[in-house]
Amino acid sequence: VEGKYDVVFASNLYQLLRLDERTKLREAVKLCLKTDGTLFISTLSINDPQHYGIGTRIDSDINSFQDEKFLHFCTQDEIERDFCFLRINELSEQEYYEHRSTGETHHHISWMLSGTLKSSND
Ligand SMILES: C[S@@+](CC[C@H](N)C(=O)[O-])C[C@H]1O[C@@H](n2cnc3c(N)ncnc32)[C@H](O)[C@@H]1O
Repeated sequence: VEGKYDVVFASNLYQLLRLDERTKLREAVKLCLKTDGTLFISTLSINDPQHYGIGTRIDSDINSFQDEKFLHFCTQDEIERDFCFLRINELSEQEYYEHRSTGETHHHISWMLSGTLKSSND
């Protein structure tokens, strides 16, 4: 529903989406957030130490690789450009260890973005 939501939260999903799917997600966020509503997104950085550069490089989608699964890695410039419809409150890289139920531990560096939807007059 258009303009209905105060908050949209997308944790570690964006990195799994292809170029056209990432565009669709941003368009959906623009439509469903209220003006001044907040988007939180976490997504892998090109500085991710464990997964960046692993697998087959996808020529049509820069900083994307197909290994067991497709993964896209964002630069700061890309996030600032692609989410320019937001007033950015926070954009930072966070390093963390993800402990999985399989016993594996994954070492990640992800972008944490929070921003509020600009009004169409901004
Ligand atoms: C890395 S997990 C993150 C799960 C959870 N959001 C978190 O942060 O712990 C990615 C999730 O995105 C879902 N997913 C992958 N592609 C998707 C798509 N095209 N649309 C919706 N969900 C998708 C997967 O099923 C999986 O649950």
